[in-house]
Amino acid sequence: MNFLEERILKDGLVKEGNVLKVDTFLNHQMDVELLDEIGKEFHRRFADVNITKVLTIEASGIAIAYAVARCFGVPMVFAKKAKSINIDGDMYTAEVESFTHKNKNQVIVSKKVLSSDDRLLIVDDFLANGCALQGLISIAEAAGASVEGICIVIEKGFQYGGRSIRNLGYRLESLAIVESMDHETQTVVFRDQSE
Ligand code: G4P
Repeated sequence: MNFLEERILKDGLVKEGNVLKVDTFLNHQMDVELLDEIGKEFHRRFADVNITKVLTIEASGIAIAYAVARCFGVPMVFAKKAKSINIDGDMYTAEVESFTHKNKNQVIVSKKVLSSDDRLLIVDDFLANGCALQGLISIAEAAGASVEGICIVIEKGFQYGGRSIRNLGYRLESLAIVESMDHETQTVVFRDQSE
């Protein structure tokens, strides 16, 4: 079991509806030491990749992407969730639908901060159905940038996002993949990722 899986078992809470609450250490209160560990671990896993930028989406992705970018010594860009009236031609845009929140967001990145010279590592806290990731990938494509890898802290392996992104050929690494969880017993089962 890795450091993140241990932390989820210690401090995560399973809510009804297959929602894992990690807001005491990851996406509300943030354990900065843990974020540093996460940054180092993704840096180790993608040590062979020559990246120019880290790309994420607000809000919870930002701190994690910062930790990763710090380790690689590259800038971090976060896509903003925007009201469509603000959008002009200087922006790459994508529509992201949230199944969890049952809403749609237009996400935007300025053309000033992404270009066809960029080799990206995409970072996010959760991967469920993959809508946020698909939005970030389509923004990278619109910029002509390459997606060298994808770093996810917690993947919900029983939802289809991970499978569909891997099927598209992307190199996707998740620190913890939840296979199942149970609200009644507060049990979380992780996919065995040891080779
Ligand atoms: P998807 O992007 O992978 O398709 O996921 P989905 O639409 O289902 O998730 C929407 C939001 O809910 C995302 O945050 C995602 O991180 C979060 N989420 C999904 N499953 C869980 C879960 O089990 N636990 C927690 N804590 N969050 C989950 P978001 O809307 O982008 O919010 P934020 O980053 O602004 O906080």
